[in-house]
Amino acid sequence: MGWKRKDLLGLQELSRDEIEVILETADSMRDIVTRPIKKVPTLRGKVVMNLFYENSTRTRNSFELAGKYLSADVVNVAVAASSVVKGETLLDTARNLEVMGTDAVVIRHSSGGAPHFLAQRLQASVINAGDGMHEHPTQGLLDLFTMRRNKGRIAGLKVAIVGDIYHSRVARSNLWGLTKLGAEVVLCGPTTLMAPELGEIPGVTVTDKLEEALEGADVVNVLRIQLERQEKGLFPSTREYHRFWGITSDRLAVCNDDVLVLHPGPMNRGIEISSAVADSEQSAILDQVTNGVAVRMAVLYLLLGGEREA
Ligand code: CP
Repeated sequence: MGWKRKDLLGLQELSRDEIEVILETADSMRDIVTRPIKKVPTLRGKVVMNLFYENSTRTRNSFELAGKYLSADVVNVAVAASSVVKGETLLDTARNLEVMGTDAVVIRHSSGGAPHFLAQRLQASVINAGDGMHEHPTQGLLDLFTMRRNKGRIAGLKVAIVGDIYHSRVARSNLWGLTKLGAEVVLCGPTTLMAPELGEIPGVTVTDKLEEALEGADVVNVLRIQLERQEKGLFPSTREYHRFWGITSDRLAVCNDDVLVLHPGPMNRGIEISSAVADSEQSAILDQVTNGVAVRMAVLYLLLGGEREA
């Protein structure tokens, strides 16, 4: 299928075929990421603007590298040093950046819906790099890509997503992508960090029993405890959290023998995941980061005309 969308806002709105196209395109892009000369001329003359209102290590830098590997010009807007601090609105900021010749705006914002708001008002492509508690579509895609590379399939996998489900845009993008591709998803965490309504989505179950979630799991996706988004009292302490919900080697014993462990980063070692698990052979956490560059190359390529214009 040809690619038709101007924007990438979330996995909820993508069809199964569209997700497959991105993953297949990312397969070819990954070869570029891992070879000695990481440069192709595909997006020469295109301009990508990274506009991050929240901090980021993986997403922002991998979008920058993805654009550069495809020969686009990439600009990182330093929001804290920009006229945003003088009160310039999101829309005015984005419109001013657009008329400098921007073809794609990659935006991370603490408000859910900020990328959708811009997408309706800009001619440039808008890519959601994480909006509030809503979605983080390129993280969802790179998680799918990593699972498929490791397991050879997505359909039929049991994927346990464990931790702070309530605040997690990663969990939401994962569950939309995974259910569209035929996986069974179990969301698990303390009841105070759960979003029970997600259990109404076909293919998704919700439990606060960790052993039940991990039993027979093919993949365990461990979520970061978002200390910056916690209201007081959602769990007693990080030590208590680790004791009851931390993913340790002992707890993984009930999973399938070849269980794959993922984490979107940044990790709170010793809280939601032990170092022994994070650094084990079961962990694909650094693979996820490499795959993230390939997936973001695929997204830029598809949105910026590589496929659409063809
Ligand atoms: N996974 C993720 O979004 O990491 P960053 O916050 O470092 O971009």
